[in-house]
Amino acid sequence: MFERIQPAPPDPILGLSAIFAADNRAHKINLGVGEYRDATGVTPVLDVVRTAESRLGESTPSKVYLPIDGTPDYGRVVRELVFGSESNEQANTVTVQSPGGTGALRIAADFAARHFSQARVWLPDPTWANHPKIFEASGLTCRSYPYYDAASRQLDTGRLLAGLAETQAGDLVLLHACCHNPTGVDLNADTWAAVAKTLAERGALPLIDFAYQGFGEGLEEDAKGLRIFQKLVPEFFVASSFSKNFGLYQDRVGALSVVTTDAEQASSVLSQLKICVRTSFSNPPAHGSALVTTILNDNDLRSLWLDELAHMRNRINKMRQSLVAGLAQQGATQDFSFITRQKGMFSFSGLNPQQVERLREEHAVYIVGSGRINVAGITPENLEGLCTAICAVL
Ligand code: LMR
Repeated sequence: MFERIQPAPPDPILGLSAIFAADNRAHKINLGVGEYRDATGVTPVLDVVRTAESRLGESTPSKVYLPIDGTPDYGRVVRELVFGSESNEQANTVTVQSPGGTGALRIAADFAARHFSQARVWLPDPTWANHPKIFEASGLTCRSYPYYDAASRQLDTGRLLAGLAETQAGDLVLLHACCHNPTGVDLNADTWAAVAKTLAERGALPLIDFAYQGFGEGLEEDAKGLRIFQKLVPEFFVASSFSKNFGLYQDRVGALSVVTTDAEQASSVLSQLKICVRTSFSNPPAHGSALVTTILNDNDLRSLWLDELAHMRNRINKMRQSLVAGLAQQGATQDFSFITRQKGMFSFSGLNPQQVERLREEHAVYIVGSGRINVAGITPENLEGLCTAICAVL
């Protein structure tokens, strides 16, 4: 049977990490996968996570299965973070714990495939390379809507809104809440409101991917689009992830929340989401969600987490400025100041696939084929080599 199985290509992001690991060049630089690194190039376990882990180590009574949808306490802290502590979203909103943000998207995709099988899923162009694959794996069809204008390196607001006006009732529309992956270009409040109105008029169902809360401008600032949706859109999904903002990449902790119009609908939706979970991974892993719940339920731990999150965000922003200055110092004639206006971990550099390949082959600098650079992987030590390499391929 296996004779006819053809080899699949490596994943464009995680596959790059494997190629990087096999590269023997000492000066190699990994700016591919979206992992935060500190100034020494290490992806740290946050101090607050270490503290919560030692508390949990002493108090975990058992390793029995979690409920299919995760613990009620976890659902509550996720909703408070995502929808705001003042929000009255709790009664008509349900949350299921998921293995990371990818797991949350896949639960939403499975739910849509079961209940809205004719739905098309609209994705921004460009988007995270894994997005179309997740929805297609559930049997859904994907479409693109315009998002980024490569010439001005800005949001193409007019074409974005015109593209979304083509959605039909029941279609799913994926939006990046903040720190758009891969461009780093986000919507302003006016555009969020215009998008919300368009989707509400069309009857399309938004799915907000919230993988980078706190990495752009701050926890609440990064939820600005979501807050607008809470006012203007009656029903939507939010896929959240704690990989980046808690540094819990390998613990696979995320959540899918669904806003409905009343508690009865919420309960029906939850019962169906539980079937999606049960037939996929049965019930969620406990460790990551216990850490997040412990930290968010304790004022001291929460404020330590906020400090560490702000530190990560500030370091990334500093590296954006250093990259722009470094490129100018190495003689780049092109204006790279757009890098400092982008938000989150990534910079869409504008480097083309040939330049990306030359960076890897000739300079051992790894970035994603689309030209996406993980700014969070730049350090004072690798900055000069990176700028020299980029200038050499420009
Ligand atoms: C990325 O875009 O690099 C991250 O979201 C990691 C991943 O799973 O691709």
